[in-house]
Amino acid sequence: MHSFDTVIRNARVVTAADVFASDIGIHEGRIVALGFDLPTGRNEIDAAGRHVTPGGIDGHVHFDQPTGDGSVMADDFFSGTASAACGGTTTVIPFACQQKGQSLRAAVDDYHRRAADKPVIDYAFHLIVTDPTPEILHHELPALIAEGYTSFKLYMTYDALKLDDRQILETLSVARREGAMVMLHAENSDCIAWLTERLLAAGHTAPRYHAYSRPMLVEREATHRAIALAELVDVPIVIVHVSGREAVEQIRWAQGQGLKVYAETCPQYLFLTADSLGCDDSFEGAKCICSPPPRDAANQRVIWDGLENGFFELFSSDHAPFRYGGSDGKRAHGEDASFDRIANGIPGVETRMALLWSEGVRTGRITAQSFVALTSTNVAKLYGLYPRKGSIAIGADADLVIWDEGRPFQLDNDRLHHNVDYTPYAGMRLSAWPALTLSRGEVVWDGEFRGRAGWGRFLPGALPLPARIRRRDTELPL
Ligand code: URP
Ligand code: ZN
Ligand code: ZN
Repeated sequence: MHSFDTVIRNARVVTAADVFASDIGIHEGRIVALGFDLPTGRNEIDAAGRHVTPGGIDGHVHFDQPTGDGSVMADDFFSGTASAACGGTTTVIPFACQQKGQSLRAAVDDYHRRAADKPVIDYAFHLIVTDPTPEILHHELPALIAEGYTSFKLYMTYDALKLDDRQILETLSVARREGAMVMLHAENSDCIAWLTERLLAAGHTAPRYHAYSRPMLVEREATHRAIALAELVDVPIVIVHVSGREAVEQIRWAQGQGLKVYAETCPQYLFLTADSLGCDDSFEGAKCICSPPPRDAANQRVIWDGLENGFFELFSSDHAPFRYGGSDGKRAHGEDASFDRIANGIPGVETRMALLWSEGVRTGRITAQSFVALTSTNVAKLYGLYPRKGSIAIGADADLVIWDEGRPFQLDNDRLHHNVDYTPYAGMRLSAWPALTLSRGEVVWDGEFRGRAGWGRFLPGALPLPARIRRRDTELPL
């Protein structure tokens, strides 16, 4: 009779706070012992001095999300979560997106049907609120928050998704009252529309003009406005996919005022630039169209600095999978389609963890503890999944990654398990990849995909930690 289902021996355990030597005892999917010379388990895994981190939590992915523009996301809940697992991610939080005119409840029900028995790893949902009618604001949203949908995203751009400032205020005030966490996509819609019209009129239609249509200032202005709206309502927010200096400056200012404004960034802002969208008018640049667009080398450095000095709370993939070949992805409107008609988004759920471990931790830019905070612990805390997820501690789910390091290899799409036919990071030389991923104690990746559809469980979110943006000196008389 064994007291442990699995014992991982000789690990260099990394948490957001510490790195320490330990064995890890696992029973019924949970971590039940940390220490030396644990009794023999039914399964024994020798980690032999390797780093062992909490499984990644990717707090920003898009799987099987209806787009409404003729393009189709390439990953559903099976291929998306399988890809995540093979890259060391053990929890994902995709988006249940309300179509305008649709009930939010119907969007959630539809998204549960899409997930059904497909997920390989555990998952929660964020909501996307696109139509905050009185019924949604007064009834549906509070009820859904109470049921565990405790975070939602609001868009300031994209015609099918965006809210105006008044709608954002109304929705933020529901978040404040109910204690939910709001994510903001901050880009100024009218500026983008105006620039796009002028670019197209001048015949500048190629993918690379996407970056010209969404310059840094449109992100800066919307970031500033999002902060002001949140400050007025007095509610914490997350600014997602921060791409460069001017947005960082706005958030830093807010944080300096004591406002709880959290920042997320993504691999594309560290490893791609606007040149990745092409230096000529070829269609190839469509592969790297995402919003906000990647910037330049100086902005990349600002994003690295922000990871190094603790400015960023979250490092997510913003995996938005569209195939390059075929006719339902980037080419949904043909190769001659102008940049504004090409599906926004790039794949990255499988490469997120290894890119940051390889180019962040192994180069000495960030500590292993910061890596864990950015890719797992902070995500769990902000979105109500901590302490069951996001740490290596007694009682936590045994979601773990054992790292293989120091054997450089060239990244190419063939080694990935998503259903996308390219990776924007092809050709990069990396020096780390997960050797083993465990989801609730079960091996889902050991160099081969070992997971099974339906293993993943839905996780209702608890209410996130901070309920107020700051303590007001004077309360508004409301
Ligand atoms: O281009 C992007 N980022 N596509 C995904 C949707 C979003 O706004 O995050
Ligand atoms: Zn977004
Ligand atoms: Zn996104």
